[in-house]
Amino acid sequence: MDKISTLRRYGLFDAKVPRYTSYPPANRFEQDVGARHQRNWLEQLPAHDPVSVYIHIPFCRRLCWFCACRTQGTKTLSPVEGYIEDLITEIKVASELPRERLKMARLHLGGGTPTLLSPALMDRLLDAVFDAFDLAEGFEFSVEIDPTEAAPDLLELLAKRGMRRASIGVQDINLKVQKAIGRLQSFEQTQEVCDILRGHGVHSLNVDFLYGLPHQTVQSLSETLDQVVLLKPNRLALYGYAHVPHVSKRQSMIPSEHLPGPETRFDMSELARERLCAIGFEPLGIDHFALPDDSLACAAREGRMRRNFQGYTDDPCESLIGFGASAISRFRRGYCQNAVSTSAYRQRVQTYGLAGHKGYYMREEDRLLAGLVEQIMCTHGIDVSRLVESTEQSEIYFASLIDELCRQFADIVDPHPLGLFIRPGYEAAARLICAHLDAALSVQHTHSLAI
Ligand SMILES: C[S@@+](CC[C@H](N)C(=O)[O-])C[C@H]1O[C@@H](n2cnc3c(N)ncnc32)[C@H](O)[C@@H]1O
Ligand code: SF4
Repeated sequence: MDKISTLRRYGLFDAKVPRYTSYPPANRFEQDVGARHQRNWLEQLPAHDPVSVYIHIPFCRRLCWFCACRTQGTKTLSPVEGYIEDLITEIKVASELPRERLKMARLHLGGGTPTLLSPALMDRLLDAVFDAFDLAEGFEFSVEIDPTEAAPDLLELLAKRGMRRASIGVQDINLKVQKAIGRLQSFEQTQEVCDILRGHGVHSLNVDFLYGLPHQTVQSLSETLDQVVLLKPNRLALYGYAHVPHVSKRQSMIPSEHLPGPETRFDMSELARERLCAIGFEPLGIDHFALPDDSLACAAREGRMRRNFQGYTDDPCESLIGFGASAISRFRRGYCQNAVSTSAYRQRVQTYGLAGHKGYYMREEDRLLAGLVEQIMCTHGIDVSRLVESTEQSEIYFASLIDELCRQFADIVDPHPLGLFIRPGYEAAARLICAHLDAALSVQHTHSLAI
């Protein structure tokens, strides 16, 4: 049976499964867990372990139709100014809770559009972050950049304040596709921003682009790839477009009949993978590519690549503190998500100093599944020896799990002396396998609670 037929038989083209940027996925977070545990989890952060910091700026000057991120449109900076004041309060309150001052290993500004801040507002925000945390050795600062909203003086300021990585939103370069997703952005505009960044010493550039967009064809994606490569990125993230108009109302501007079907989407991702590998990019996880000397590619080769809310990372920190509306924090004992709308977020910060409202308390069984899911999403395989080290389960437990997976997915996974691996060419099934494990082990978990 050919690859497409095999994957079809396993349900790849019909399945709706999480992207597993966390386990459990954020839609399973429980009401009030965040608010209940956030303060305590922050207090318990050990000073000897550096943390990662994520800051969410949920505002955009334009609202692209395809975008599934929860963002708020604004023409002026006035709602942003009040929001930044509350962010600064949240950063101060949270950073003073641990017994000792924390070291920050990573700082990432995401959104929305962090670059819509004026230089003065950005300076104020960064002053607050750098006042709150010491810098760990090897500290890295990265920012998500919409090239149509990236003033040269702001880029200069970010570089002066230590930004060394940037993630640039491209999505597609084809004009017909850009019109159909409500996001016009010329190639020259994107190239200019890349040049400015490199001129300021920001040499690590990631480009986000999408397959499965309206009017996109395998041929048009191939042409977009030719142009994306001219931007000379070190990393690429090629996401499958998620069409969820019931969640993101503005996507109803995109008629579903203009979208390529699941098998064409698969052809698109295959084409991109082949083309990028042929010119020297290494495929990482389910949707990232990097040049061999890029730190993410090195981390992947050395088994250090991790999965997090931004996709893939070489960030080794156990704890991540998320600031801002809807930001998610990860602690050793669980996840905590801030109130999602900017108004609810601001009200919480003004009342309590912190804004956690949802979250998840990780039990031992969850930790086990999180380890399995992260391994599959990062390495397309399971290495039992590493799981035995990090969980309380025995090799015998994992042996039966591996047997079960090899039976269930007989045509796409193979056993391996250390566990199993997904056969080359069938990596697209990684999320399906995670979803299978999730369903199977979550049921066991429910049974054990019922007894
Ligand atoms: C949070 S957005 C920020 C991007 C930045 N504001 C810009 O416009 O360049 C980060 C990335 O999420 C991805 N994204 C947004 N909506 C998506 C969707 N519906 N399906 C898949 N990826 C999506 C896009 O690739 C985008 O670059
Ligand atoms: S893609 Fe970027 S600019 Fe467009 S709506 Fe989403 S976050 Fe805003």
